[in-house]
Amino acid sequence: MSDSTLPASRLRESLGYLNWLYNPFHGLDASGIYDLLATSSPTERGLYFNLGYWREATDLDAASDALAMLVGETAALDPEDRVLDCGFGFGDQDILWAQTLKPRHIVGLNITGSQVELARRRVAKLGLDGRIDLRLGSATDMPIDSASVDKVVAVECAFHFRTREVFLREAWRVLRPGGRLVLADIVPAPAVSGFPARLEQRISWRLVAGKFAIPPQNAYTRPTYHSKLAVSGFEQIRVESIREHVYAPLHRFLAEHPQTLARLHPMARLPARLALRFEATSVYRGLDYVLASAMKPQQLLGRSRRRP
Ligand SMILES: C[S@@+](CC[C@H](N)C(=O)[O-])C[C@H]1O[C@@H](n2cnc3c(N)ncnc32)[C@H](O)[C@@H]1O
Repeated sequence: MSDSTLPASRLRESLGYLNWLYNPFHGLDASGIYDLLATSSPTERGLYFNLGYWREATDLDAASDALAMLVGETAALDPEDRVLDCGFGFGDQDILWAQTLKPRHIVGLNITGSQVELARRRVAKLGLDGRIDLRLGSATDMPIDSASVDKVVAVECAFHFRTREVFLREAWRVLRPGGRLVLADIVPAPAVSGFPARLEQRISWRLVAGKFAIPPQNAYTRPTYHSKLAVSGFEQIRVESIREHVYAPLHRFLAEHPQTLARLHPMARLPARLALRFEATSVYRGLDYVLASAMKPQQLLGRSRRRP
């Protein structure tokens, strides 16, 4: 790279952040966001882009691993399993599952080309490319045969999918009967009453949904999430809120370890620091965080799948 291309690419990147975060009339699609974020993950040892599960974790890397393990263990990943992981980021979770829960095979789909490329290199470097196959592709149009996988998982990404319902139909199609679907996902919080809580709730959801490419069709609360799974043909459905182990402890950790934010692009640090000046209750008032799991019925004979 020549001396003049480096500042030019930095300038382009800064303008990209400026436009994304500070221009109220501009948003990016999901792959545009993750291309821009590139490898500026706030984690220290890995390249996760999730908020973490803080029930026992005391740092962001451990919390991100814990969220991946929560999904992997809820899906009961085991050495017999063929797994489909949608929205795998840089593949950290797949590497972790391959090393701990040891599923037979993992196929990953991700729409962000820059992430797919680096994730594939990371997996190959660890000699795991025979067991983890990471591909460019969308969770809403899966290049996967019907009834060919045992588990479908998605760690903190289904809110992006256009739409989550299309993804649920695809997940149902590719799962074998008796296969399981597990998601860690962000949805709007149940409505609160009174001022200013109601206003905070709206602002909080709109800011996140607007800047993080969440289509309006995915903005429904837990009970509707449950019924969308049921209408898609799933059984044994659980949609549990784990928000108390996500937002407030993350906020507390960042307030106590502001140096973590130094790993973000300078343009992204400002809104992150501003958010830390407010109480977690206000900042995250509009957001719920769910762990959802469901099973494709064992017996499909004699049943027609219910369609939305
Ligand atoms: C918040 S990041 C989470 C990444 C990773 N699961 C983690 O926990 O670090 C969301 C991921 O979803 C991916 N994504 C968004 N829309 C997608 C789609 N339609 N199909 C597949 N991946 C998608 C993004 O490229 C990104 O990798």
